[in-house]
Amino acid sequence: MRKRIEELILEAGRKARAETSDEPEPQYTGDVEFPIECKVGRGLEGAVASTTKVGYVNGARGWLVYRGHNIFDLAAYSTYEETAYVLLFGALPTKSQLDEFKQELKSKRGVPAPVMEVLRQISPKTHPMSALRTAVSMLGNLDPNADDTSVEAETKVAIQLIAMFPTLTGAVARLRWNKEPLQPNPELDHAANLLYLITGDAPDELKERVLDIALILHADHGMNASTFTTMVVNSSLSDMYGSVTAGVASLKGPLHGGANERVLYDLEEIGEPENVDAWFAKADATKRKVMGFGHRVYKAYDPRARILGPLAGLLVEHHPHEAKLYKIATRLETVVCGKMAEKKIFPNVDFYAGLVYRAVGIETAMMTPIFAVSRVAGWTARALEYLGDNRIYRPRAIYTGPIHLDYRPMGSRG
Ligand code: SDX
Repeated sequence: MRKRIEELILEAGRKARAETSDEPEPQYTGDVEFPIECKVGRGLEGAVASTTKVGYVNGARGWLVYRGHNIFDLAAYSTYEETAYVLLFGALPTKSQLDEFKQELKSKRGVPAPVMEVLRQISPKTHPMSALRTAVSMLGNLDPNADDTSVEAETKVAIQLIAMFPTLTGAVARLRWNKEPLQPNPELDHAANLLYLITGDAPDELKERVLDIALILHADHGMNASTFTTMVVNSSLSDMYGSVTAGVASLKGPLHGGANERVLYDLEEIGEPENVDAWFAKADATKRKVMGFGHRVYKAYDPRARILGPLAGLLVEHHPHEAKLYKIATRLETVVCGKMAEKKIFPNVDFYAGLVYRAVGIETAMMTPIFAVSRVAGWTARALEYLGDNRIYRPRAIYTGPIHLDYRPMGSRG
């Protein structure tokens, strides 16, 4: 099965290269001098917020690269721990570096009791991302060195957060159902431990590998909203806990990471494959956004969806309900891409991710926290890179209101 998954990913990579467009995209490398010329649209479209060597997204060609390595190679051959190392430290680790890093992550998985106490106070009806946000914020209150914003100190916090996110997510997942949170299992690697902390069972090899691949795919993605949020907060020399707390808050939104959960609700709402066309016609007529489609940067097929789509297809084979949802999803992809071809709208990372998570045993409400477990590596890697040559973020807004209005006394305001 491992070989089949590897082949499936490499095939997706070959397909991506074969279908890639030659349309050029302005390429800014790490050596570019500011200011550079760029046209900025609403939502800061086109704005350049920094130079970086962490990762690269080429939206016209559908490329995703972490520190020079393409996502298909990383998904086929790497692990989440190795990928997080690459993002944080800039290059593939040697065996001893990786062993040491994995050991460090394992040793830092434990979450302080007061954080667990706070999580117990939160209503099970609260969205899991809101609970996770509060937990990260609370972690910062317990660290006496939280205000040390040197790159060295913040790197330690970054590693600690990467290690602790599965423990926090597992606790949130279990407390929702009145189940006791579990202790991290030192026998298990990152992805397997995450699944164990949620479900209470050590996963089989297939589930572990698939979740690991999903974590690799979500780890970093350019100047997306939650990464930018994290960097903006960190640029005021606040502290890494606060910055990541803000990142979690930003990722929650349905236009961003929260879309993976909404996709599942949409697929359930559609109900049967034969309902897809009518459902989409109504969505289109009412200008309802179809979750899991479209992207600010990709005007080609998202390479992560190229991997997650076939993976979802493989996994749902033994899950009749998810197999039906997968049929609905593939029909929806055909209909949406056909209808919106001119706008270059394709499935994004969130479209098939939920089906993959469902097939490994993760409930829909917990899907965005899984994204966060992965993305914390990208958030912190980019915030740390920027911190090395920090300048506070401070864009401007174009004021379109009146000026020099008379201050009218209360009695004459009607
Ligand atoms: C993520 O930035 C990142 O890198 C994010 C991410 C990451 O790894 O961090 O890749 C993860 O957030 C993926 C995106 C998840 N969100 C969704 O799936 C929600 C549905 N998609 C969208 O609402 C939308 O496509 C966005 C938010 C992803 C992008 O928004 P933009 O760039 O502001 O685009 P837009 O809303 O201005 O749309 C442009 C046009 C519009 O048509 P016109 O008004 O020009 O005629 O495309 C249409 C939109 O109506 N459109 C869609 C659509 N997405 C765009 N129409 C229907 N359904 C959609 N999903």
